[in-house]
Amino acid sequence: MDSGKIIDGKDISSKIKDEVREETKKLLFERNIIPGLAFIIVGENVASKVYVKSKGKACEEIGFHSVTKSLPETTTETDLLRIIHEFNNDKSIHGVLVQLPLPKHINEQKIIEAIDYKKDVDGFHPQNVGRLSIGQKCFIPCTPYGIVEMIKRSKVDTNGKNVVVIGRSNIVGKPMASLFLRKDLNSTVTICHSATKDIKAFTLQADILIAAIGKPEFVKGDMIKEDSVIIDVGINRVDDNTVPKGYRLTGDVDYNSCFGKVSKITPVPGGVGPMTIAMLMRNTLDSASQIIYE
Ligand code: GUN
Repeated sequence: MDSGKIIDGKDISSKIKDEVREETKKLLFERNIIPGLAFIIVGENVASKVYVKSKGKACEEIGFHSVTKSLPETTTETDLLRIIHEFNNDKSIHGVLVQLPLPKHINEQKIIEAIDYKKDVDGFHPQNVGRLSIGQKCFIPCTPYGIVEMIKRSKVDTNGKNVVVIGRSNIVGKPMASLFLRKDLNSTVTICHSATKDIKAFTLQADILIAAIGKPEFVKGDMIKEDSVIIDVGINRVDDNTVPKGYRLTGDVDYNSCFGKVSKITPVPGGVGPMTIAMLMRNTLDSASQIIYE
């Protein structure tokens, strides 16, 4: 197997966390600041609980202060807004993260907009979304930010390249497109989505393909360009009776049919996934050091 083709998200994320850990020590020593991150989780979504637990563990490993508020499914919007305001006003907290999705009776956008944009380490507040789209300093959403780091650290040339993003979510697809458009990456960007006609006609033109649609193994080998770079954002559970757990995790890319054709590819698991948490740590440290906003 040609392991030189694999972009190892575990290895890159671990390096980023080491960098953040070192800078965190320096911040404490020089300015007596400990980065603080507050997690709010509403309801019993199993995947959300797992994510928040891993994010809290990363804080501990790096030397951040972290608080997790786990609220019942029945929490009202008013109660959730009050808790957000408390963290907004808490000087020991530099990042406020409300884990999504929220229960249906809560207006998600209203909650996102209640978070102080200077503590919005998810980069979902319209202030950060807007600043990203006009190329100003801001918090960048962690998954697309992680993809940029993987691309840069793997020395993938993006200048003038065709980048195709499949998926138009606010968390991945749209910010990803904004980032590739910025002068530092300087790519030509296309976003495909559920209404796109003949997706294959677009993906075959992609020097860099970002798959973020949430459909297991959607991208097949015959849909990609020879020597392209494939970034798989998907984490899908599919039934598999041949393993004790009864399921396996797979991405949005059919890894086996693509591998022979690509110049680089991210695996699932161990690709984009671990990068997201590393970039959350980076954003929280940058918030505490007031690198993004004074
Ligand atoms: N749910 C899925 N991904 C994310 C994320 O990056 N941040 C938050 N807050 N919720 C999510």
